[in-house]
Amino acid sequence: MSEKITVGLGTRAYDIHVGSGLLADVGALVKNAGGKAAVPVVTDANVGGLYLERLTNGLAGAGMKARPIVMPPGEGSKSFAGLESVCGQLLDAGIDRQGLVIAFGGGVIGDLTGFAAGVLKRGVNFVQIPTTLLAQVDSSVGGKTAINAAQGKNLVGLFHQPKLVIADTALLSSLPKREMLAGYAEVVKYGALGDAAFFGWLEKNGAAAIAGDQEKLIHAVAHSCRMKADIVARDERETGERALLNLGHTFGHALEAQTGFSQRLIHGEGVAIGMALAFRLSALLGICPQGDAERLEAHLRSVGLPAAIADIPGSIGNADSLIAHMAHDKKVKDGKLTFILARGIGKTFVTTDVPLEAVKTVLAA
Ligand code: NAD
Ligand code: GLY
Repeated sequence: MSEKITVGLGTRAYDIHVGSGLLADVGALVKNAGGKAAVPVVTDANVGGLYLERLTNGLAGAGMKARPIVMPPGEGSKSFAGLESVCGQLLDAGIDRQGLVIAFGGGVIGDLTGFAAGVLKRGVNFVQIPTTLLAQVDSSVGGKTAINAAQGKNLVGLFHQPKLVIADTALLSSLPKREMLAGYAEVVKYGALGDAAFFGWLEKNGAAAIAGDQEKLIHAVAHSCRMKADIVARDERETGERALLNLGHTFGHALEAQTGFSQRLIHGEGVAIGMALAFRLSALLGICPQGDAERLEAHLRSVGLPAAIADIPGSIGNADSLIAHMAHDKKVKDGKLTFILARGIGKTFVTTDVPLEAVKTVLAA
């Protein structure tokens, strides 16, 4: 069983394939997308160790050879040094303008490879084969690519859409539980931001999907990708609606920054707490029923995700220091903080018109 979603971007449209065991059959898909006899595959040591052989066999099925470029796992690879290393190895491999690169890993590898592909020879094609739940439902779709700078995360990047995305849900069986949950926070985000029926489905089936039920995982990933694909097709460059995908991110990024982007709080956990805070703020402002904020928090907690600042181990600075982090966010417009607020589950909107006192109240609660 597999599903296909198209990201409708005209001449740059591409397909997302979601299914269990797709890695075995990647050859034909990659060849169709422009794969040559030797295909560079950027991966990290964890993913490479687990699955490179399977991918190599899949490509061999269509007469292609994998040329692995193996990076150290972790956010540190999304750096100028990581970019230099990947670009150097791709150039050494003789990649040309018609060449195609595979990004095979989580969001770190996807963002790094996508960026390298975007700048190398002024742009070569790439295919995303995401291996974390976060990457399957979010980072591999939509063409945002970036590396980090000393000044902050994702500050050097570009929009560069992949040619194809292949999400094999079977690969998620080896993902550490914490990473699986962090990715699941992004799945919940889609229900919370724009689809109350999907949120209801997750309340019933989310735990089984997290536990590895392939049918439910495929549905959760495909539905998330479909929602993101539709938004990206309407607003590729985030001039409007795409900002809804940042639900929970203004709070979440501030918490990640405050905890030094460390293992104390990983991205999806920050998004989970951030979403709960955004709904709490909406309820405090009287625009969202209190019951909806409680329902979101209850679901996050029911699967084992954090939903409050107090759930982060150790002490977090005061509200002012968190607001100072928010002021440095790329989402600040004309000096105003941008928030995604909710009128209820599945009903969100973007606003810069939020009283700072109310933000401080939810941060201090
Ligand atoms: P990651 O890529 O660091 O992967 C997490 C860990 O899981 C790594 O140690 C990795 O080696 C390991 N791993 C990956 N797949 C595995 C598997 N199948 N089995 C076992 N281990 C596996 O982290 P992530 O959460 O996937 O991505 C986070 C990155 O994504 C951040 O840099 C963030 O900025 C970026 N991001 C980008 C976008 C976008 O739109 N471009 C959206 C959200 C997040
Ligand atoms: N992850 C948010 C976006 O792609 O716009």
